[in-house]
Order: sequence, then structure tokens, then C-alpha cells
Amino acid sequence: SSTACRNDDGVIEVGGVSVVEIADRIGTPAYVIDEVDFRERLAAFRDAFAGMKVYYAGKSFLCGAVVDWVADEGMYLDVCSHEELQLALAAGFDAARIGLHGNNKSEAELELAVTAGVGRVVVDSVTEIERLDRIAQEHRRTVPVLVRVTAGVEAHTHEYISTAHEDQKFGLAIGSGAALDGLLRCEQAAGIDLRGIHSHIGSQIFDASGFEVSGKRTLKLAKQVARLIGRELPEFDLGGGFGIAYTTMDSPMTPEALAEHLREIVEHECRALELTLPELSIEPGRAISGPAGMAVYRVGTVKPVALGDGIYRNYISVDGGMSDNIRPALYGADYSGTVGNRASTSEPALGRVVGRHCESGDILVRDEFFPSDITPGDLVVIPGSGAYSRAMASNYNHATRPPVVGVRDGQITTLVRRESIDDLFALDPVVSARRATTP
Ligand code: LLP
Repeated sequence: SSTACRNDDGVIEVGGVSVVEIADRIGTPAYVIDEVDFRERLAAFRDAFAGMKVYYAGKSFLCGAVVDWVADEGMYLDVCSHEELQLALAAGFDAARIGLHGNNKSEAELELAVTAGVGRVVVDSVTEIERLDRIAQEHRRTVPVLVRVTAGVEAHTHEYISTAHEDQKFGLAIGSGAALDGLLRCEQAAGIDLRGIHSHIGSQIFDASGFEVSGKRTLKLAKQVARLIGRELPEFDLGGGFGIAYTTMDSPMTPEALAEHLREIVEHECRALELTLPELSIEPGRAISGPAGMAVYRVGTVKPVALGDGIYRNYISVDGGMSDNIRPALYGADYSGTVGNRASTSEPALGRVVGRHCESGDILVRDEFFPSDITPGDLVVIPGSGAYSRAMASNYNHATRPPVVGVRDGQITTLVRRESIDDLFALDPVVSARRATTP
């Protein structure tokens, strides 16, 4: 986390707690969230984007405590699955402050959205528009809706997290006329209250030029719609995707700079098109949860592998891996890492932090210099691990998923407990039955 630092003993501390204490009390691997930092990041977006609605994107990391923090900071919540919606509602979040996303929302999911009264549904296809309209009418409700469009923009990021080019599954394309068609259908639908347009161009974006192009095209569409339906759409959501620093190579924009930039883009276009400024909203996930979290692993083995010319790389195996952070394997994502339990004066040596899974792509930190005396029992800390890590964790190799703890004022609080082998056995009727009958 951005607030982690080394104490006088050379041990990394966050929220007033040392990683040694966390490892001793909670075990490893563990995800640690600096609660104050997380909430300050929420508040920073809220304040920088004052006058706009900020939806925290729960997909990056969500649990009951996070739902509470979002509520306490007076913010909105973006959920993108039936399960995230159920979690938010079970935790008591105000449905009116929830936005629901997804390209294949189920009947049950839409029904829950309608009956709970979520603040808005972002629709993604004609099939869904028809389905939602029918469900809303069955319940005699009118559901506030945004239509997700794709503006044909190349966001300069990994293909799998880039979403505004047209040949992918999300949204209705502006270029082909599908977006206009979807918007007009919503306007006609008795169960739907068409509020506006939604455009999310991708994730881990550092450069506002993508927003400029998508903003232009989207507002031009809004103007076209206004002419056809005889009223202006009151809302426009620019999506999320604001990049964070995983290594020193990344330089993210501050929420203030972002807000100024996005406001400027929209104001400029609206002036040019003679449109009233719509109410703007954004959906940051990673920029809030990412830097507030770090991963703590324990080193199990250190294996020097000769690379030729007398050069070697230490393969540092830790007790987690791709089952708790798939991002390096899936996106080639880079992380930095450091030894957290002590300062070392030994020479730095090239290292690679790898997991315990049965694949060579099971990498957590691809290239990093670690002290050459790194040894089994040391703790490796990986900052910037709060987003899309625990949230995307799996049970590959029957790994139990790590816990998430919050730290604050020297206190450790469990936010999500560690999964146990009993949790996994309980899913398996054969194993469960045998365990029940074996003394
Ligand atoms: N809004 C929409 C409609 C989205 O699809 C997303 C992310 C967000 C907001 C939040 O984006 P953020 O601000 O967190 O970048 N698993 C990938 C990221 C997938 C993002 C999917 N949608 C990763 O680990 O990089």
C-alpha cells in the first residue's frame, strides 16, 4: 500500500501493524488492506468528482466491509453480477445507489434488480432490453436504464481489458447504428426509463485521449438521440479504467487531474453540440482498491538458475501464486516486490517470484532485484495487490483462497477469512460422505 513503510527494525509496516505480525497471526499468503488508505481513495474520487456520481467498481474487490466503507463515504456502487448484487444487498447497501452491469444478466438477476429497486441497470444488448422491459412491466415498475455503447476506440491497454473497440462482447456499437437502435428501443419500452449512455473504454489507462475520442462520439450520439426523441438524455457515464502504478514505470493521473480533464472534454463537446451538460458519473475500481492492498507471501525455496555469462536469476517460490493473483499469467501484468520482514545489506540479485502451482507461467513478480541473501522463511510483500487479485482468485490445484485483513491503528480485522480445506471438502459429496463415515 502507498502508506506502507519500513520501521526501525527494517520490517514493513502498514496501518500500524508489521507484516511479521500479520504473517504470524493470520498466516500466509494474505491480502492486507490499509483501511484508512482505501477510504481516503474513495473520498478523493468523491471530492475530485463533486457534482458527479462516483460508483466504486466492486468487481475489483468487494466484501461486506468494503460495502460499508462505500456507504459511509456516501458513494455509489457498481456491481456486475447477480452474486455481487446479492452481496451488496445482503450487506445492507441502499439499492437506489447501485448500478448493475453485465452482458448476460439472468432472469433472476434482472428480477432482483427490479424488485430491490436498483438505481440503474446498464443494458448491453437488444435481448436484454426486451427481457428487462418485460420483467419490469410484470412487476409494474419502470427501471432507470443506461445503454452501454462502444465508440470504436483503441484504449492503449491489454486486449482482454480493452472494451471500446467494436469486435468484442460488450456494448452496442455506435458505428454500426446498433447503439442508436438500442437507445430508441429503450425510449419506446414502457418498463424502461431511459436515462442516458454509458461508455467504458477499458482498464489500466494512463492517457486521457481515449476518453476524448469516446466522449466526442458518444455525445454526438446523444445529440442525435435528443433530436429523434425530443428530449435530452440527462446522464452520461464515462466508465472506469483509471490506471495505477504497479511498478515505477507507471505514472497514474490524480483524481483531480482526471476530473478536470474529463469535465473539460464533456463541457467542450456539449458546448459544440449545444447540449445541456448531462449529469456525469464514473466507475473507478482499481484506482481505489489497488494501491490500498498488498499481498504477503512466505518464501519456501530459493533456486538460482544460471542464465549464462555468469549471470543467474533466483527463482523465489512462495506459498501462493496464480491461484490468488492470476494477473501476471493472464495479462502479462508486472508487479514489484520486496522482502518485508527485514532490511538486508546484501548485494541485490535478479529474482523472479513464482508460486507453488504446476505451471511455469505461475509468476507473481517477473523481474525484480532482491537481496542475494533472500532465504526460505522471508516474507515477500507485493504492493498494489488490492484490485483483481483476491477478487479473481481460484481454487486451482485445490488451493484454499487467502484471507483479506484490514489494518488500521495497529489493529488487524478479518474482512474475508481464509478458506479452509473443509470448505473445499464440503463441496465434494464423495469426500464429504467418506469423511462422515471414517472415524
Ligand atoms: N466499469 C465497467 C463497465 C467495467 O467493465 C470496469 C472494469 C470498471 C468500471 C472498472 O474498471 P477499473 O477502474 O477497475 O479499471 N481483471 C482485469 C480488469 C478487468 C476490468 C473489467 N471491467 C485486470 O485485472 O486488469
